[in-house]
Amino acid sequence: MAKISTSRVDKLLSSMGYGSRKELARMAKAGAITLDGAEFLDVTKRIPVTPDLPTRMTIDGEALDPVAGMVILLNKPLGMTCSHKEDGVLVYDLLPDRWKSRSPKISTIGRLDKQTTGLLLLTDDGDLLHRVISPRRHVKKTYRAKLARPLNGTECDLFASGQLMLEGEDKPLAPAELEIVSKTEALLSVVEGRYHQVRRMFAATGNHVEDLHRERLGGLSLPDGMLPGQWKLLGEKDIALIFQ
Ligand code: URA
Repeated sequence: MAKISTSRVDKLLSSMGYGSRKELARMAKAGAITLDGAEFLDVTKRIPVTPDLPTRMTIDGEALDPVAGMVILLNKPLGMTCSHKEDGVLVYDLLPDRWKSRSPKISTIGRLDKQTTGLLLLTDDGDLLHRVISPRRHVKKTYRAKLARPLNGTECDLFASGQLMLEGEDKPLAPAELEIVSKTEALLSVVEGRYHQVRRMFAATGNHVEDLHRERLGGLSLPDGMLPGQWKLLGEKDIALIFQ
């Protein structure tokens, strides 16, 4: 049986971004924290940290956020950045503000360019993050690319060859699959995550990607009707789909 850890409530809640230990002591005294329907007054007490805690604890009348180990699926909108090092609005701004203060930190699993839209995962689970981005796992990422010029007919074989060398690199790309949708649109599935990989692959064929949208990661797709900027927490079954 998995061991259940215990934590002081002030330590747990401050690691979830709800405030400093002092603020939490004040909130508890004011009756803002409940556990199993009763006011929880002494935040220095230890409690078991179980995954069902969000169904049992409330803060200011709202269910507690998920405890550590969460995976978020986001439909990334155009123009937002994944990296804190770039300028502009960050994908993290789409999530609740207090999540910026969570520890462990929430990070994107890999990155999408500012001008790329679609399926992006975020997590506070470092092991999962490394498993998804590890080249050894061969998690397939599928992109819909809309191109400035018609495909020239060489792309499928070139991308599948395992011999395409991107400019400035010294190791050829792993084989990738291209499914042609129309003269200027294709679905490209890659197992690596090199810098601007899809755009550079089409650039190597003399083309230019005008729109790029990630549709799938492993066996996981964006849910029907999920609008840009919307997100949801993934359960265990969805997380398992990533590795299918
Ligand atoms: N390839 C790109 O060129 N850009 C992305 O955002 C992802 C893959």
